[in-house]
Amino acid sequence: MNQQRSGALVFYGATGDLAFKKIFPALQRMVRAGVLDVPVIGVARHGSLEQLQARARESVIQHGGGVDPVSFPKLMKLLRYVVGEYTADATFDTIQREVSDAPYPLHYMAIPQSLFEVVVDQLSRAGCDGGARLVLEKPFGTDLASARRLNTVLHRCFGEQAIYRIDHYLGKEAVQNLVFFRFANTFLEPIWNRQYVENIQITMAEPFGVKGRGAFYDQTGTIRDVVQNHLLQILSNIAMEPPPRSHDTETLRDEKVRVLKAIVPLNPDTVVRGQFKGYLAEAGVAPGSNTETFAALELAVDSWRWDGVPFYIRAGKCMPVMRTEVVVKLRRPPPITGVSLVSNHVRFQLGPEFQIGLGATVREPGREAGHPLELLASHEHEGSETDAYAELLSDAMRGETFRFARQDYVEEAWRIVDPVLHGGPPIIYEPGSWGPPVAQALVPGGWTEPSTST
Ligand code: BG6
Repeated sequence: MNQQRSGALVFYGATGDLAFKKIFPALQRMVRAGVLDVPVIGVARHGSLEQLQARARESVIQHGGGVDPVSFPKLMKLLRYVVGEYTADATFDTIQREVSDAPYPLHYMAIPQSLFEVVVDQLSRAGCDGGARLVLEKPFGTDLASARRLNTVLHRCFGEQAIYRIDHYLGKEAVQNLVFFRFANTFLEPIWNRQYVENIQITMAEPFGVKGRGAFYDQTGTIRDVVQNHLLQILSNIAMEPPPRSHDTETLRDEKVRVLKAIVPLNPDTVVRGQFKGYLAEAGVAPGSNTETFAALELAVDSWRWDGVPFYIRAGKCMPVMRTEVVVKLRRPPPITGVSLVSNHVRFQLGPEFQIGLGATVREPGREAGHPLELLASHEHEGSETDAYAELLSDAMRGETFRFARQDYVEEAWRIVDPVLHGGPPIIYEPGSWGPPVAQALVPGGWTEPSTST
């Protein structure tokens, strides 16, 4: 890890949606936490510093829990503004002057992917690359070939250690807790393998549709939007081997890449793609679009630990509940005294709240029968997405890479989903259902439905 702190933060797309919803609230939080006291330079094509300040105020009101009377004015003192086209040399000459004294300036590309190349080349031309760091948001390409091309572009100017690819799931407290819980509790390790685990189910259910993002979503679909990144990240956290006890932070990322390397590319026969009824009427959606708003799929991790254990992922919009969770379903115990029993499970509910559930069977009072009971542990910390962004940005400013997606990880993830990115017409499903009924049949014995305790 490079522990040198960045002496400036430059963010491109300062007047855009991402800056409005995520970045300004995160910056206010970072100032409050005392981890941001360097110049913050917004870059966009129009407007003035005063307009940007007004937008920042509105942003923290709408998305950052309100204007913090101490931190917000401090943030406004740090804020600068560079106006100009991304294709214009003058824009980057000005940026270069702004950061010329700053060690390890951090450049955050909160702009469409189509502009990445032009900005990276301009940074290179203007000489901004010496020690500079680059933060970018998904999508990192739209398939394996484009992800490779993008990485080649980024590497023209930035070494891999200077690139911070944000997957906001890696900043979530609940996702970090999942990894911690796995390795901090010795009772799990003996059962965390093919001998005890029957299957692993990962669900990301959202009860809303595309929330006005039809044009973006229609180019993307569920597999690109959340499976290739967030849900494969969760899967690798569940399936990885404990990292060696070295202080090299790359070891954690190495272990996660090893999991993906053990996964064979998806087979279209084991993928169910669905589209909620009414999607075609959303603004920005192409007539007759085949984009999926639901996907359910089966994966195999071809390793000693997981041989023969199916991993199932399902994700969708317009689902019955809001829930992201992982269920590790254990093998069914044999009957006792003639009573047949159901499987036990370990459940990690990652959102909206973090919970760990141990699915057990107790004796039904008064008779010789099994009664399923889930032992629940809840975590009081309610980390918001602002926390996740603030934490990730703080990491990047410290040169801490382990919570970011590495090039090899991103490319492996695309390799896995590549064969199913161009499916035919999806199956239409009713909003408020669990997707096409055939998705239910993907898991022998059915999906373990999300807990209704929260
Ligand atoms: C984003 C996707 O990356 O993650 C959205 O583009 C999705 O479609 C969102 O709704 C979910 O994130 P979270 O943090 O609300 O689970």
